[in-house]
Amino acid sequence: MGYSVIPQPARINVKNGTCAFKVSSFIKIVGEESTLAARDELTAFLNSVLEIFPSGGEQEIHFTLAESTDKKGSYNISVTKNRIELTSGSEEGLFYAVQTLKQLLFQCGEYLDETEIYDEPEFEIRGLMLDCGRYYFPKKDVFRFIDLMALHKLNEFHWHLSEDQGFRCQLDSAPLLTEIGSVRSHTNFNNKEHSGYYTKADIKEIIAYAHSKYIKVIPEIDTPGHAVSMISAYPELSCFERDLPVATSWGVKHDVLCVGKESTFEFMYRILDELCEMFPDGIIHIGGDEVPETRWKICPHCQKRMKDEGLEDESGLHIYFLDRIADYLKAKGIEVRMWNDRIKDKTVSYDVCWQMWNGSMSDEDVISHMEKGRSFVLSNSAAYYLDLPYGLTSLKDTYCYEPLYYRLKNEQKSLVKGLEVCLWSEFVPDIKTADYTLLPRLGAFCENVWTNAAGKDFERFYGSMKHYYRFLYAHGYYPAPPKRAMPGKVGKFFSALYWERRKLCWAGLQNIIDNRRVMKKYGGSF
Ligand code: ACM
Ligand code: ZN
Repeated sequence: MGYSVIPQPARINVKNGTCAFKVSSFIKIVGEESTLAARDELTAFLNSVLEIFPSGGEQEIHFTLAESTDKKGSYNISVTKNRIELTSGSEEGLFYAVQTLKQLLFQCGEYLDETEIYDEPEFEIRGLMLDCGRYYFPKKDVFRFIDLMALHKLNEFHWHLSEDQGFRCQLDSAPLLTEIGSVRSHTNFNNKEHSGYYTKADIKEIIAYAHSKYIKVIPEIDTPGHAVSMISAYPELSCFERDLPVATSWGVKHDVLCVGKESTFEFMYRILDELCEMFPDGIIHIGGDEVPETRWKICPHCQKRMKDEGLEDESGLHIYFLDRIADYLKAKGIEVRMWNDRIKDKTVSYDVCWQMWNGSMSDEDVISHMEKGRSFVLSNSAAYYLDLPYGLTSLKDTYCYEPLYYRLKNEQKSLVKGLEVCLWSEFVPDIKTADYTLLPRLGAFCENVWTNAAGKDFERFYGSMKHYYRFLYAHGYYPAPPKRAMPGKVGKFFSALYWERRKLCWAGLQNIIDNRRVMKKYGGSF
């Protein structure tokens, strides 16, 4: 037998039965100062999971940073008699080597056999998005997500910090966003208040923690839609300055930011300036998804803007907003991400990276965008929205999903920056549910984003579940049982029923009634 490592390394050779390295406290961990972070990561694992406290001896684990032309993040592990060598051209490569070594040490028993591993990531960006707008996850939970990302060799934490149902990021330039916008009176049919936000000190701590695990932090403030919590704090941001509470039901809301008023842009620039100072990784996600145009159609400010700018229709207004916000950030040297909703014939500027989530773009559409310079992060909702029930997206569906990347010509491939999974939280109110829905699918995702196509093999992956689950349990994570993650017909049926229940909370009827109310008061029709 060999060792099961998730994600499967590019090359792994094990000489079974050679019993080369004894796993005990009689080991010495050796490396130059620049390898300290990786050595500390290994020591923490040995102490907390294996209860091994290295105290010197003839078994040595050596960490070496060496010149290398290999892909960023690549590493080598060599296990020989009494010695383990971890080598990489980069600090994060050594860190990933440790993630692999942890799995070997965890499953090898008393001795590690002679082993040679070479490994490198398939994609440069390996992301996970956490929706803290619908439900606030306390700081300790965010740390826990970051630990989970590190175990899976992921490197971008996309932090969805604002939603109709809650604004979670403290900003001095707009204090009411959290004072008012972070509290909702209830959630659908329950009567409990829900609240919470991250202070500036929390955010600083979370970023530092993520960086210590070679993970970048990309904040998202979702505008101009999904912004009811912002409007509840500052009604002047909307078309009709209605006195709206923070949203208490799910679904797409019709009250969005007013694009006609110049003051909306001034407000946005102020909060973006602050956000740029708080998040040092130089990437900001500006949302841009799911924006109904109903208010804009009857708003005098928005209609005037359309006329002044020569915009044909309200979709032009949406693009105008996104382009202005993106241009503002780009002028500050920030890389801009947004969801891919604005397609059709008109579109936002091409030097914005699109996060592709829905099936609205054909391969040809994507390729034509690439030819004009657009880059992409791929997050196909059918495979990578890990809050979906397993009956809709099973472990195998996530594993076997083939991102568009593999259908591109070689010269186009570099425009796919990476893959990202999303954990939306409408039905994920706590960390226990988060574990259940993320795991084991996160393991499948990390083989999509790290392992090369030739190394992917669902049977081998599924056969590793025993080790994978034990490893997760040892770290305090509680995945859905394999049978739940791979439901049969009956499981699928109940999953679909369960998922339909969301429609009860989707506020469709409420939107229709509300739209009529607005029309009656302000005129116009839609
Ligand atoms: C999205 O799922 N609305 C990006
Ligand atoms: Zn307006």
